[in-house]
Amino acid sequence: MTEQSSNQMWGGRFAAGPDAIMEAINASIGFDRRMAAQDIAGSRAHAAMLAATGVISDSDAEAIREGLLTVLSEIERGEFQFSTALEDIHMNVEARLKEIIGEPAGRLHTGRSRNDQVATDFKLWVRDQLDAAESGLLALIRALFAQAEAGADWVMPGFTHLQTAQPVTWGHHMMAYVEMFGRDLSRVRDARVRMNECPLGAAALAGTSFPIDRHMTARALGFDRPAANSLDAVSDRDFALEFLSVASICAVHLSRFAEELVIWSSAQFRFVTLSDRFSTGSSIMPQKKNPDAAELIRAKVGRIFGANTALMMVMKGLPLAYSKDMQEDKEQVFDAADNWMLALAAMEGMVKDMTANRDSLAAAAGSGFSTATDLADWLVRVLGLPFRDAHHVTGSLVAMAEKKGCDLPDLTLEDMQSVHAGITQDVYSVLGVDNSVNSRQSYGGTAPDQVRAQIARWKEMLE
Ligand code: ARG
Repeated sequence: MTEQSSNQMWGGRFAAGPDAIMEAINASIGFDRRMAAQDIAGSRAHAAMLAATGVISDSDAEAIREGLLTVLSEIERGEFQFSTALEDIHMNVEARLKEIIGEPAGRLHTGRSRNDQVATDFKLWVRDQLDAAESGLLALIRALFAQAEAGADWVMPGFTHLQTAQPVTWGHHMMAYVEMFGRDLSRVRDARVRMNECPLGAAALAGTSFPIDRHMTARALGFDRPAANSLDAVSDRDFALEFLSVASICAVHLSRFAEELVIWSSAQFRFVTLSDRFSTGSSIMPQKKNPDAAELIRAKVGRIFGANTALMMVMKGLPLAYSKDMQEDKEQVFDAADNWMLALAAMEGMVKDMTANRDSLAAAAGSGFSTATDLADWLVRVLGLPFRDAHHVTGSLVAMAEKKGCDLPDLTLEDMQSVHAGITQDVYSVLGVDNSVNSRQSYGGTAPDQVRAQIARWKEMLE
């Protein structure tokens, strides 16, 4: 290995520079450059505070402020020369600042360390992503409202075990996902409140002897307060773990919905038609229209939950305070965030564009003896049978219909009476799917009135 000169930022005690492999394993600039804007925002807040507390002069603070703005615009214009030898975004920015403004740049790092700096930058980055997730979830929920409103009274089969169970309404099914994504939204909001404490000024781990004002920097960066323990402040990555956990649960919801869309868009179901904009063709089979977006959303949970697992494993067993292991946090979170936002946007687009096929849904709703429970309930309500007996009588009627190759409403009254003599013509009133769904008026039930009430409740809550 050729010997390099020692690091310009921390090389005072080093006679030689790092081995190339050391540099390769150590550097994070390849990915943490994504936090450049956050890094510069943190440095600006820190410099302004150092001047306000008299730790540095106003003229130095002004030079730092101007210089940082120049660095930021260089980065934004893609003109910035990132250097692996300078390891990470923090030292890349500071080194460039020194080139631009000279000596005052060296005063910026007073009363802070890269440990509190990286924790602050990364928190700011994750906080922005929580805000983006909130917008993405709200947009998706609004797209689901539109579907639910249009089809509040459209009947479809409800399933358990993916076997026809009881008729439900399309609106009710869409609103089930609103409940799921609504919980994700509340988890995103909770996580943001919990994480919003500023690590800056914790310095390396013990705080600093300079008379800094951590409340001032916390305020300037939009945090609610400074983190209260300097050891914890630099070693805490709960905000990243919580981000990944919230993302994982949401990705599970997205994946379940995506799975339904894959099934529903098949020729065997035809419950929905996905738009051309969110489908792809096959290069060999001309008839095909594939639900690729749904399939990829279904798959995203793999990498998002993978990132969650990976960071959990990185953090377990780390002693206080900072350890370099923690540099492994960023790529996981970056990748999970990118894919979570993409999956949310793709799902929103698909939901907005898709057409529910009302006739196919209705035809399927009436098949598979879906109103058998309504028949059993009628026997209880009108004839006073115990539910267990009613269940048995209904089972016999289902077996009879199956043998005849017809549905329950197609059985004649004589057929019915051969199983239970007390059955009257009135029974047919409950065998239709519309009657079935309209009767499910219990709170949170599938009746169109209930669905409309839930849509109204959600809209009011989100206002
Ligand atoms: N690149 C580092 C990281 O991502 C920054 C903190 C480095 N701190 C240190 N003491 N080496 O974690």
